[in-house]
Amino acid sequence: MQRISGILQLVLLMGLELGLEGALPPPCNSQIYCTGELLRQVQMAKLYQDDKHFVDMPMTKTPDQVLSDFDELLKSSGGNISRDHLETFVNEHFKDPGQEMEIWIPEDWKASPKFLEKIKDSRLRAWAEDLHNLWKKLGRKIKPEVLDKPDQYSLIYAAHPFIVPGGRFIEFYYWDSYWVMQGLLLSEMSNTVKSMLQNFLDMVEVYGHIPNGGRVYYLQRSQPPLLTRMMDRYLAHTNDLNFLGENIAILELEMDFWMNERAVNISHKGENYVLNRYYVPYGGPRPESYSKDEELAELLPQDARESLWSELKAGAESGWDFSSRWFGESNYLLDIKTSHRVPVDLNAILCQAEELLASFYTKLGNLNMAQNYLQAQARRKAAMKALLWNETLGSWFDFNLENGQQNHAFYPSNLSPLWAGCFSDPDTVRKNIKYLEDNKILSYKHGIPSSLQISGQQWDFPNAWAPLQDLVVKGLAVSDSAQAREAAFQLAQNWIQTNFDIYQKNKAMYEKYDISIESGKPGGGGEYKVQEGFGWTNGVALEFLDSYGDRLTSGSGPMPLSTSGLLLALLLLGLLC
Ligand SMILES: *[C@@H]1O[C@H](CO)[C@@H](O)[C@H](O)[C@H]1NC(C)=O
Ligand SMILES: *[C@@H]1O[C@H](CO)[C@@H](O)[C@H](O)[C@H]1NC(C)=O
Ligand SMILES: *[C@@H]1O[C@H](CO)[C@@H](O)[C@H](O)[C@H]1NC(C)=O
Repeated sequence: MQRISGILQLVLLMGLELGLEGALPPPCNSQIYCTGELLRQVQMAKLYQDDKHFVDMPMTKTPDQVLSDFDELLKSSGGNISRDHLETFVNEHFKDPGQEMEIWIPEDWKASPKFLEKIKDSRLRAWAEDLHNLWKKLGRKIKPEVLDKPDQYSLIYAAHPFIVPGGRFIEFYYWDSYWVMQGLLLSEMSNTVKSMLQNFLDMVEVYGHIPNGGRVYYLQRSQPPLLTRMMDRYLAHTNDLNFLGENIAILELEMDFWMNERAVNISHKGENYVLNRYYVPYGGPRPESYSKDEELAELLPQDARESLWSELKAGAESGWDFSSRWFGESNYLLDIKTSHRVPVDLNAILCQAEELLASFYTKLGNLNMAQNYLQAQARRKAAMKALLWNETLGSWFDFNLENGQQNHAFYPSNLSPLWAGCFSDPDTVRKNIKYLEDNKILSYKHGIPSSLQISGQQWDFPNAWAPLQDLVVKGLAVSDSAQAREAAFQLAQNWIQTNFDIYQKNKAMYEKYDISIESGKPGGGGEYKVQEGFGWTNGVALEFLDSYGDRLTSGSGPMPLSTSGLLLALLLLGLLC
């Protein structure tokens, strides 16, 4: 109880600091998918196991018709609609999710892309081929009816086909797509990558930024801004400078969004710095997790709820929804403070975007613009060095805006400046390796955990996620240091083993893995069941198989259960005889 009232005070203070007086705007204007009584009643009645189900249902009538029919129902039931009536109402006015998209088999998919030949271990090669085949199951195209009647769908129309993550994630997602694209490029599917890029560029043109995912309820939050890096990877495979020239202004527009809407001034030891944070000043429960957000908020006084919801959305924007990384001192979700943290990975990604924009402009012959971006990058690097770097500990850390201190807990994102090529001098790499050793991170045999804290949240121990493996492995792999490159290989081998062993058992790839037990298992915790598919996991596995195809093995891991069972039986027999 004491603890809770402490949290209350903290959250109250936070609301005041942010100046959140009264209601914040809803995440979109739809009175059905983002705000209003119908949404509240359906989600709080828990008609479906997952709140995402209802807000993904297309309407069978116009929104005005749906709302006026609902008003009638409200009136006739005296404000208390029974579950049965609610269910009947939804069935009469909505269709099942997913029908507004069709399966799309990428036209550039082909059997036997070249990278497969580089994989020596035949079991790994067969598996890589399975993963390559999975692209055919994850392709989607939006039906024209969504363009004709956009207000009857929560799906945001995208003109070009794309690859989805899988499971409950049946629309496009922003940062997932980076790793999906990496896999697609290895599969020699650059047209599919271009198609996905075009959708994202369209989103920036229309909304000024890329939404978290392809639904209206995701509109006001973005995700780690990897668009410029996506363009760079696409160019590396195609050298399509026309496409770059046509779209560089849109890449800039996205950068402007982060600098105008997500920057924060920090004055520290007499100097002023500008860095970026995740920040979503929009209120109400997240429509796709409505009942969870509402129930959590009920633990707080009314006037503290909007700020909690805003911080939850900022957590979703970070991609790490949710993690102890964003929690205040009391270490609960209720005490989430995402916008009060300056994240290493976000700033590393933007640092690289600035460098890439400079190099793109150089290629296009605009040296003035190139110079501007190099200067912006130099300012950011100075700010990162001053606020996020810790010389004693040899790593970067998120910066806490409330107390002006670094958060010294381990997260793979602490190493993201290496991955982003933002700082990769030999001295930094050497210190980073020592940092990993000091924290015994290299001793986790099944993958690098998201953190060392057990919070029940999905971006904490014991879960490990593919993009975070890539962040560390790729960062070390490009180093001059042989020791760093060897560590990268070992980490890649560990991760491939976990993915491969579980694939052998379940014939499935997962969005995350639990690395706490021998041989690993699909991950758990968080807000929904672990999902199969899975776009970014497949992309990272293909990348590692490509980078280390000549060395990776399928056999060094724990024995499959059946074999060890057999051995045990033989042993017992031996004892009996
Ligand atoms: C609404 O109706 C249910 C039964 O259908 C009843 O249990 C509940 O108390 C009612 N709530 C209100 C606020 O009237
Ligand atoms: C930072 O400070 C400058 C100068 O005072 C101001 O112009 C700018 O709007 C501030 N930026 C943010 C994100 O607060
Ligand atoms: C770096 O970490 C050390 C050890 O925890 C701490 O004393 C120091 O204040 C930190 N430096 C910065 C710049 O935060």
